[in-house]
Amino acid sequence: SDMDSMSGMGGHAGHDMGAMALDAAALPEGAALRELPTLANEAGQPGLFKAKLTAAPATARFAADRDTPILAYNGTSPGPLIEAYEGDRVEITFANRIEGEQSTIHWHGMPVPADQDGNPMDPVAAGADRVYGFELPEGSAGSYWYHPHPHGKTAEQVYRGLAGAFVVKAKADPVPAAYGDTVLMFTDLRLAADGSMPDNTMNDLMNGRVGDHVLVNGQKNPRLTVAMGAKRRLRLYNATNARFLRLAFDGAAMTIIGTDGGLLGKPVAADEIMLSPAERVELVVAFDRAGTATLATLDYDRGWMGPGRPADAGLTLLTVDVSKTPGEAMPPLPERLRPIAPLGAPAVSRRLVFTETMAMNATGMEMGFLINGKAFDMERVDIVARAGETELWEIVNQADMDHPFHLHGTQFQVIERERGGKVAKPPYLAWKDTVNVARGETVRLLLRQERPGQRMYHCHILEHEQLGMMGILDVEA
Ligand code: C2O
Ligand code: CU
Ligand code: CU
Repeated sequence: SDMDSMSGMGGHAGHDMGAMALDAAALPEGAALRELPTLANEAGQPGLFKAKLTAAPATARFAADRDTPILAYNGTSPGPLIEAYEGDRVEITFANRIEGEQSTIHWHGMPVPADQDGNPMDPVAAGADRVYGFELPEGSAGSYWYHPHPHGKTAEQVYRGLAGAFVVKAKADPVPAAYGDTVLMFTDLRLAADGSMPDNTMNDLMNGRVGDHVLVNGQKNPRLTVAMGAKRRLRLYNATNARFLRLAFDGAAMTIIGTDGGLLGKPVAADEIMLSPAERVELVVAFDRAGTATLATLDYDRGWMGPGRPADAGLTLLTVDVSKTPGEAMPPLPERLRPIAPLGAPAVSRRLVFTETMAMNATGMEMGFLINGKAFDMERVDIVARAGETELWEIVNQADMDHPFHLHGTQFQVIERERGGKVAKPPYLAWKDTVNVARGETVRLLLRQERPGQRMYHCHILEHEQLGMMGILDVEA
């Protein structure tokens, strides 16, 4: 298993590959922001979205003068943007052309049947094809994404380039169309001097892989040009393996309008936002001052083991040029977006305790990333639940690092966070599928699974998921 293969590597713990890294200056910045290519709908009939996604080796040009071998969906990384509407049926043929590796496509955050959700229990062999089919229910509009989920290979296939955005649009959208609708997908990149992506080190396995560059839609610090007075709808995705993004706009005002599972009840003004790995947020950003506005990272200490904590403050992710001439007048954002009904009283409550274990033995360091004292086992069901029943889940982080908790198959509502004996209610109700649980913190959430079948829950630091911080929920009809 992965855990066994890590003993004997103790001498490498914390080893920094920095000396080998490609000079950051070799990565060009300031190109015009690339809109993600959209996946064409081949159905030719209303109510159906039909397309093909092929995962295969490809080449990218991150550095000006060096090619980087990557993995890509349909030749592009991030993968093509999928846009479909509530009420649509989706049929996507997946072709796995990754040599010698099984893969799957997981529809992160989407309410798809369990046997269509790309679980590690349902692998697609190298060279094989399969069709994923599901309906997008009414009310499911939101900012989802897709990525591989094969046993033991998820972290690597994702950092090598396999991830894409899946936006489900509402039939009646309260957000003015004049704001546009732009996906900003953040990924993380580390390049060796020859332009290749180095394998995960022991440090990466412990802390999660954090690279040297944060990219937006595959570009480093691209530029966006807007007219003064413009409002833009931006969907921000943290598609990194392990980087925590605490973000603020300098020179523009942010309003949060949605989270992982779609719009909030009403807009909320924000000075900064926090996106742990796999989280998304929908913003309306108002560019009311001529000049330059920048989206940059702030410092956030998520707990780091050993040396080499990356400097995560002050990275400019996006530069916006705001013209002196005002653009067309923008309609205001409505005061109410959509109703969010509280999930109500739970019939069942559960407690999930996240821990890390580190032990030196004769052959090296042994690490465990555990939930309720256990590492993931594909053959074991950890929790049995009933479809349609509301549950209270208490996620307790007793570890030294933050762990972003994610559950497949549904969206949940965070109702409480507790730390050092202090209990806080979230400032607003929201639909989420991933929530950061800081070290020493307990997060309480309500959830309801509507469909039967097996669902994964795990830490979305993908290296931790791979090393065992994952379980199986079996939902009975
Ligand atoms: Cu995006 Cu099981 O995860
Ligand atoms: Cu998921
Ligand atoms: Cu974790």
